[in-house]
Amino acid sequence: MRFLVLGSGGREHAIGWKLVQEGHEVVSAPGNPGLAELGEVYEVALNNRMELLELAKRIEPDLVVIGPEDPLIAGLANMFRENGFATFGPGTDAARLEGSKAFSKDMMKRAGVPTAEYQSFSDPIQAKEYVAARFDAGAQVAVKASGAALGKGVVVCSELEEANQAISEMLEVGSFGQAGKTVVIEDRLFGREFSLLTLVSGDSIHSLPVAQDHKRIFDGDEGPNTGGMGTYSPVSAVSKALVQQTEEEVVRPILSSLAEIDIPYQGVLFSGLMMDGDQVKCLEYNVRFGDPEIQTVVRRLGAGFGDALLAVGKGESIPEIPVLDNASLTLVLASGGYPGDYEKGKPIEIGELPDGVEVFHAGTRIVNDQLVTNGGRVLGVSSVGKTLDEARKVAYEAAKVIHWEGMQFRSDIGAN
Ligand SMILES: Nc1ncnc2c1ncn2[C@@H]1O[C@H](COP(=O)(O)OP(=O)(O)O)[C@@H](O)[C@H]1O
Ligand SMILES: [Mg+2]
Repeated sequence: MRFLVLGSGGREHAIGWKLVQEGHEVVSAPGNPGLAELGEVYEVALNNRMELLELAKRIEPDLVVIGPEDPLIAGLANMFRENGFATFGPGTDAARLEGSKAFSKDMMKRAGVPTAEYQSFSDPIQAKEYVAARFDAGAQVAVKASGAALGKGVVVCSELEEANQAISEMLEVGSFGQAGKTVVIEDRLFGREFSLLTLVSGDSIHSLPVAQDHKRIFDGDEGPNTGGMGTYSPVSAVSKALVQQTEEEVVRPILSSLAEIDIPYQGVLFSGLMMDGDQVKCLEYNVRFGDPEIQTVVRRLGAGFGDALLAVGKGESIPEIPVLDNASLTLVLASGGYPGDYEKGKPIEIGELPDGVEVFHAGTRIVNDQLVTNGGRVLGVSSVGKTLDEARKVAYEAAKVIHWEGMQFRSDIGAN
């Protein structure tokens, strides 16, 4: 089958890699140098709808797979479906689960999904009154820009002063633009975080193996948040029973509530979760595969990923995807300075990689036949092994033969 994969990151490279492994044809746009090794790449931006539609008409894919959230929020999946293309990715209404935290929390409440107490505000004075009351009641808070803020719109506050500052920053200074015009203020939760990726095709759902991510830039979970510095799977702390509980309490109810207001869901639902004692609480939903989570997950799936995506795109029941009896780990190699300012255009050298390693391209491009850095997160080194220890060793071996000026990575992925 022929898949049109839309996006240009490590996520799309990993999806494309898995599809090609299964014998499918992969065409991508705007793609990246990694995707270019898998099949035809077309340099069409994801906001150029006319050209994307023309491309799809020309190549006649069996399925269009939309990788990132922004085009989903903007309604790209709607456009393809309206033009008769089987499409993986929710429409603009369902994508508001990620595009608006205020909407998302309201839907959680309506659906009875366990989540932190919250209120939404656009008035800074009322917001500050609310946080004062929460701190008086002994709570701490998380202040969140409601709109999509590239993972930088959440401030977890242990002090009232911090919360007031975050509110001023978002509602008075306007540092987050439109995304920060509304803030969601919720009680701070404490506990272990994990996430669940669930394929959704109407009533049919299928959760993928759980991968744990590491969000902070430095070892020991220190320093600022990033898009993700590495992931591993399996995660012993997340049992099958916990996955089932999450499906019942967090995934099914939100899908039912969306269906009640005539919002269908076809794609992957990413539930961001925190264990509050033995209760699982939902922090957020995303409407696309987590990256780098999916770079690890695809290494643990047997044949049938492409069939499952296609079933979702057609609105059919999702076939089982076997899970391999292995472990996988992805180590993100990032530019020096990331997640702050960093330089691009550093030449990348890749030596001879150990067996079983795949290098997924997240922020690279080719200039004069030379692969160079082109983003904060540059490469995802994905390894497999019989055990997590084995996978970890292999990934770190691989990192030794990859080099560019300023390259940084964490040394403790999968080690805790
Ligand atoms: N209520 C909360 N209590 C404690 N930590 C939180 C809470 N909400 C969010 N966080 C922390 O902030 C991170 C980002 O929040 P999230 O809601 O996932 O937004 P986004 O991924 O869009 O930035 C979470 O992964 C979690 O570590
Ligand atoms: Mg998140």
